[in-house]
Amino acid sequence: MEQKRYGHFDDQHREYVITDPQTPWPWINYLGNEDFFSLISNTAGGYSFYKDAKFRRITRYRYNNVPMDNGGRYFYIKDGETVWNPGWKPCKTPLDFYECRHGMSYTRITGKKNGVEASVLFFVPLKKWCEVQKLTLKNESSETKSLKLFSFEEWCLWNAATDMENFQRNFSTGEVEIEGSTIYHKTEYRERRNHYAFYHVNAPIQGFDTDRETFVGLYNAFADPQAVMEGKPRNSHAHGWSPIASHYIEVTLKPGESKDFVFLLGYIENEQDEKFEAPQVINKKKAHALIAELDTTEKVDKAFAELCALWDNLLNIYKVKTGNDKLDRMVNIWNQYQCMVTFNFSRSASFFESGVGRGMGFRDSNQDLVGFVHQIPPRARQRIIDIASTQFPDGGCYHQYQPLTKRGNNDIGGGFNDDPCWLIFGTVAYIKETGDFSILDEMVPFDNQPGTEVTLFEHLKISMNHVIENLGPHLLPLIGRADWNDCLNLNCFSWDPNESFQTTENVSEGTKAESLMIAGLFVVTGKDYVALCHALASRACGDAIATYTTEAARMQKAVDAMIAAVKKDGWDGEWYLRAYDFYGRKIGSNENDEAKIFIESQGWCTMAEIGAEDGMVAKSLDSCKKYLECEHGMVLNNPAFSKYIYEYGEISSYPEGYKENAGIFCHNNPWVIIGETLAGRGNDAWAHYAKILPSYVEEKYQTLHKVEPYVNCQMVAGKDAFKPGEGKNSWLTGTAAWMWYTVSEFILGIKPDYDGIRIDPCLPETANDYTVNRKFREAEYEITIHPNGAQKGVKSITLDGKPVEGTVIPYSAGKHVVEVTM
Ligand code: BGC
Ligand code: NOJ
Repeated sequence: MEQKRYGHFDDQHREYVITDPQTPWPWINYLGNEDFFSLISNTAGGYSFYKDAKFRRITRYRYNNVPMDNGGRYFYIKDGETVWNPGWKPCKTPLDFYECRHGMSYTRITGKKNGVEASVLFFVPLKKWCEVQKLTLKNESSETKSLKLFSFEEWCLWNAATDMENFQRNFSTGEVEIEGSTIYHKTEYRERRNHYAFYHVNAPIQGFDTDRETFVGLYNAFADPQAVMEGKPRNSHAHGWSPIASHYIEVTLKPGESKDFVFLLGYIENEQDEKFEAPQVINKKKAHALIAELDTTEKVDKAFAELCALWDNLLNIYKVKTGNDKLDRMVNIWNQYQCMVTFNFSRSASFFESGVGRGMGFRDSNQDLVGFVHQIPPRARQRIIDIASTQFPDGGCYHQYQPLTKRGNNDIGGGFNDDPCWLIFGTVAYIKETGDFSILDEMVPFDNQPGTEVTLFEHLKISMNHVIENLGPHLLPLIGRADWNDCLNLNCFSWDPNESFQTTENVSEGTKAESLMIAGLFVVTGKDYVALCHALASRACGDAIATYTTEAARMQKAVDAMIAAVKKDGWDGEWYLRAYDFYGRKIGSNENDEAKIFIESQGWCTMAEIGAEDGMVAKSLDSCKKYLECEHGMVLNNPAFSKYIYEYGEISSYPEGYKENAGIFCHNNPWVIIGETLAGRGNDAWAHYAKILPSYVEEKYQTLHKVEPYVNCQMVAGKDAFKPGEGKNSWLTGTAAWMWYTVSEFILGIKPDYDGIRIDPCLPETANDYTVNRKFREAEYEITIHPNGAQKGVKSITLDGKPVEGTVIPYSAGKHVVEVTM
């Protein structure tokens, strides 16, 4: 069947080009890399915030509204009686041409109507707290055009949560100031806030509006604001109600003539004692300075070039050339880009995450690190310290923290027993990439309490201990509130729909609920911890050597014990069990009526290679193919739960085939894929990988998939769902980092290690020769792999023409050429 297409990749420009504004779902992009961020859809919907999508929301957005994607930065162009927008919405006037190009931290939307072209470039300049909107209007007709241009932004009253609910207060607090071509939003500045926002344009204006109802009209909508339809701004000054910012500009364009307008949405913070320049008048000095930095096309173009140069550099760190465009574009562009975005946002703000519910996740952010650490290591370093600072002295930790305050989130609390292990996972990845062992000596507090600091190494140690000290009757890890699967709530027996599955833990006393996922995770990270101790011992002198060696031996013993426990009580015959419930009954066993097999324990126990020598790994991987795999990837469990199980919690609350109940959780497919690569099964690894690789999905089914075809989504509806293959929850998912980790280190086989780069690819038999250019610390390697039809097994390596023993290229600064024969 011929599939409808909405766009295509443009690899040369590193863009996804959307050619039809009516995509099956808003297809979005992210602007900003640090501090100031924006979300932008292909029709210019979305919003901006400073650092924290909940506490410093700058512009207002309406989630889950009618129509979808309501609110954004809108330009209205009135040309005679026709009013249109470059991004088609909100007026939806049919355009003669439409294109949205989502690139690396920028978006360019172009529309044409009746001989006028309007092109808007949106981006956040590096190190600046603002969004630039460079609008270029061009007259392509043979007559002079007199256009009326209206801009539009709606202010959010800072706290995105109360902005949506506390109207008895909100409708009285709104305040603005207008000065020349700048509209200032200063709600609550009179009291405790020391920040304001502004919307500026670098041209004289002929009018403005700052009160929403005056501009739009109470009975009108964004699609037909009264002021625009009548071509007459009201020069309204908002007092309470809903403040907005709209500029009105009259533009005359001769045939062929074009004009640029630089619009700036900015955010400013002042010192407490410098807040005002006169009673009630905000101090605008910093705003003026920021505006002056970006008030011409030339300055804006320069800032844009700097942003592009940053991305050139970031994407030059790992570059593959396989000749397979679909693979190369994901590895070289989109997968890495999505890793940066998830690093920045964790799971806080997308079109599926409202920005008010969740801050940064302890486990999520540690995983995100693995996709990001090669890009900007110092930021990864800081992130590790921030995360570790929310740990408790017993090794447990807050499940989430707020990015603005960096404090643990009390609403969700702790008790997710997989969390501590992820700190090892993230930290080890950082040290292997950078060689910076000094991070382990950093003094890091507990729960952010000054005076409680211990070294980061100590945090790692107590993380491991937390698992060992919380074992159940089968000597497997107690699951606590949940493990990676937030929805396997084995200590929450709930019949009350008003209770949160995530935070209700009403039966933990005497629990026997154990997790095989944590068991596998513990073995993987435990081995990492042991290797880290050895690496530290080899770099230490005096007593420290013995300390680290003893610690390595202690943990090796715990790892061995865990392996024995899994072999004894964690194996079901054809696959690894998933868990034991509160009463000690098996979950994920052939004995169960439903959900006989789960993916998480197959992934982690095969990554841990538990029982490989007894054929357990191969059997488990085969079972994944047999029971979990379908056309669109591997489902989380099989068969799906058909009814709610009181003892299991949220997992069985979902209809069959969705989310944690047998959805394809893209996040955990890579675990099994890595298991396949460790087992040397390159054909199978590749087959699983390609099924969830966005570029392959893009080619096959844009309409069915629904969400953005250039990034992974968290979940694709599984084989038991009403519509298998439909994607949901795009962008902010651990899938990004795991896809990256899988392809860069285990499939293409370029793996940073303490003393160099380990080369160990696992490929489909059909793989051709390929080259990876890898910057690593102070070195640059050009690594060419000759697979010769092998799926696994490096036969020989040469470094700058000389043979290398083993599979690790020893690190040394400078440029090197590596040849690898399999
Ligand atoms: C979702 C999970 C998510 C959790 C976060 C659940 O409803 O199904 O995927 O991690 O909420 O709190
Ligand atoms: C999404 C969460 O962000 C992640 O932490 C969790 O592991 C998965 N959902 C699975 O429940």
